[in-house]
Parts: sequence; structure tokens; C-alpha cells
Amino acid sequence: MDKKIFRRSFIKKAILAVISLEAGYLISDIFKNKSVKKLNPDLFSAGKSNIFEKNKMYPFNSGKFYLSVFDDGGMLAISIKCTHLGCIVQPDSKGFLCPCHASAFDKRGEVLSPPATRALDIFPITIEKGEVMIDINSPIKRKKGFRKSQLTYV
Ligand code: FES
Repeated sequence: MDKKIFRRSFIKKAILAVISLEAGYLISDIFKNKSVKKLNPDLFSAGKSNIFEKNKMYPFNSGKFYLSVFDDGGMLAISIKCTHLGCIVQPDSKGFLCPCHASAFDKRGEVLSPPATRALDIFPITIEKGEVMIDINSPIKRKKGFRKSQLTYV
């Protein structure tokens, strides 16, 4: 085989190999995007819904909320910020206690004793692919306190 023919054949094979590789990457990207739908990156993931037990409260300090799960399975994401002057409330046997001026709140975040006059804020909860997602950028002020409609169920 003369050198020119050998070189042309080699270049053709090299170009075909590069094209095949690119096509392979493109096809695999298409399948990856279809099979793995990403969760909303603006939401805080608290974890899979089946890890949470009823009648328990789970602190999420990095998300600035407590996830309360009630006896019927309803969930509330309750803000850690006291509605009096914004101190961080701590869980106690009745619900939450503010260390700054002693406001107390029940497990649903309703005021038990002043100076706070308003229930603790809550955050919207959605369940995405079995995962509990909290919208920590959208606190909800509860002027009228707790309502059963505020609970989220799996
Ligand atoms: S900041 Fe919580 S009681 Fe004042």
C-alpha cells in the first residue's frame, strides 16, 4: 500500500472514531437527562419522608426550622426564629421556649406565654419523589395561629 492511501485511510478512520465518540456522549447525555429529574435546587431537602416518625420533632439548624411530625402523620416546618424579637427558640417538653424573654410556644408553634403575640412562622413543605422539601425562603406568618390545613401529608 502506498503511503498516500495509507494516510487517507488512517485519517478517515480517526475522523470516524471521533464522530462516534461524540455521538455516544450525546446519546448518553439525553438518557441521563430523561431518567434523572433533578429536585428543585431552591428547596431544602429534609430527607426521605419514610425516615420521620410520628410524634417527633427534628431540628434542622442549617435550614433554620424544626420539622414536627404529629400523631396523624401531618408535618409542619416551624421557624426557629421567635416572633417577639427574633431570638432562636429551643425545643422543650411543651414545644419551644425562647431564651431571650421567655416566650413559650406549643408543638404547633402557637403562643403559650408572651411577650410574643404571634405563632412561630412556618415554611411550605412539598414532597418530591418521596423526599420532604422545605421552601426556607418563603416563611409564612400565621396571624391566626395553627390551622389543620397548614399540615402536609405524604
Ligand atoms: S425574642 Fe423571644 S421572647 Fe423576646
